[in-house]
Amino acid sequence: MGSDGAVKVGLIGFGTIGTGVVKLLQRNAQVIAQRLGFPLRLVRIADVDTARDRRVDLSGIRFDADAWGLIRDPEVEIVIELVGGYDVAKRFVLESIGAGKHVVTANKALLALHGAEVFAAASQRGVDVAFEASVGGGIPILRSIREGLAANRIERLYGILNGTTNYMLSEMEETGEPFEVVLKRAQELGYAEADPSVDVDGVDAAHKLALLTAMAFGAEITFKEIPTEGIRGLEPVDFETAREFGYRVKLLGIAKSHRVEGGEEERLEVRVHPTMIPATSLLASVDGAMNAVAVHGDAVGPTFYYGAGAGEMPTASAVVADLMEIAREIRHGRAGRVAPLSTMPDHLERKPLLARGQLVGRVFLRFTAVDEPGVLSHITGALAENGIGIESLVQKGRGHSRESVPILVLTHRAPEAAVVDAIESIDRLPDVTAPTLLVRIEEDL
Ligand code: HSE
Repeated sequence: MGSDGAVKVGLIGFGTIGTGVVKLLQRNAQVIAQRLGFPLRLVRIADVDTARDRRVDLSGIRFDADAWGLIRDPEVEIVIELVGGYDVAKRFVLESIGAGKHVVTANKALLALHGAEVFAAASQRGVDVAFEASVGGGIPILRSIREGLAANRIERLYGILNGTTNYMLSEMEETGEPFEVVLKRAQELGYAEADPSVDVDGVDAAHKLALLTAMAFGAEITFKEIPTEGIRGLEPVDFETAREFGYRVKLLGIAKSHRVEGGEEERLEVRVHPTMIPATSLLASVDGAMNAVAVHGDAVGPTFYYGAGAGEMPTASAVVADLMEIAREIRHGRAGRVAPLSTMPDHLERKPLLARGQLVGRVFLRFTAVDEPGVLSHITGALAENGIGIESLVQKGRGHSRESVPILVLTHRAPEAAVVDAIESIDRLPDVTAPTLLVRIEEDL
């Protein structure tokens, strides 16, 4: 403790968010101290790159590449881990916990895979691990579920959890440009990485959904268990047709609790995939790189959280809020006041997950077939054979001889297993020239 009662903090990882944390701690030092009753003081930073000028004032802060020294430094009471990834970050976090330091991290990948191990180590050592910045960037969604909605059984949640893909989907819809063109622009703007797969294949959203599912339903789950589809298969015609049908296309993380009538047995439906949602819904109005989460509780009903899911200052906002919460606990001697995943660790349980084939709902299908007489009847015949009713059907463009055209279908509610069977037989038809795209529809947002 400083003579002014300051809680002292060390930062590992001095990239974009780390720089934002330094700026925010300096810019709002007074208001932070007024809210806490004492200052927060950043005393040490470690990063492998000590040469780059981050254009922040580092006076009074020791800055070097020695992360292990920072962790062992007796002056540091809270370690902020902003390195990211699974490996070194995990060692930093576990070493910090072992050294009796509280940890603040934005590392969804680490917690979505090794959360159980990290939280158990923290509980054993009597320290806190806070991770608000890991889901929804600056949106206080974890704190809202864990504390604000603590009295509710959560029934379902839907999230736009990845800003990169939400930007890309908004652009594809607005400009009619294909995936590759929009991806290049996202990379130029710094939204997408050089290797964009973690974002565009839905993995980042699955990381975040695993944490939300654990928090909302008291479930032990890793992101690897979540069926995940990304946005690579979407084409401009899908957005255009979705609009005509009254929908917009969003990459959603979805988690729902299903209870057997009258019983306590609970099954979870958890998935990440492009989803068509009513154009009039709140989530449909979330454009560009923004994030949003809709959470339905049994007492509160529908709630909605919106904000910047990434970026220097929004993410720093969440990191510093976590620092403030832990700093209060340090000064008031009450670490572990709230269970990190909302449910006490010994009450977290593995809950059965609904298999994909067990889903029932309406779907959008894009068939690609040569524009020849009889093709449509083969497609609609295969759908009928599998008990799938058609609500709307549109054929786009008029193909020249043997040219492929898209055929877009909106179905009535149907079991997904039947839809998959129908697609398998349709994709074997000689006139069908490309694999069929399936986009699920959610109405009850
Ligand atoms: N790549 C992430 C996104 C950053 O696009 O949302 C925040 O986790």
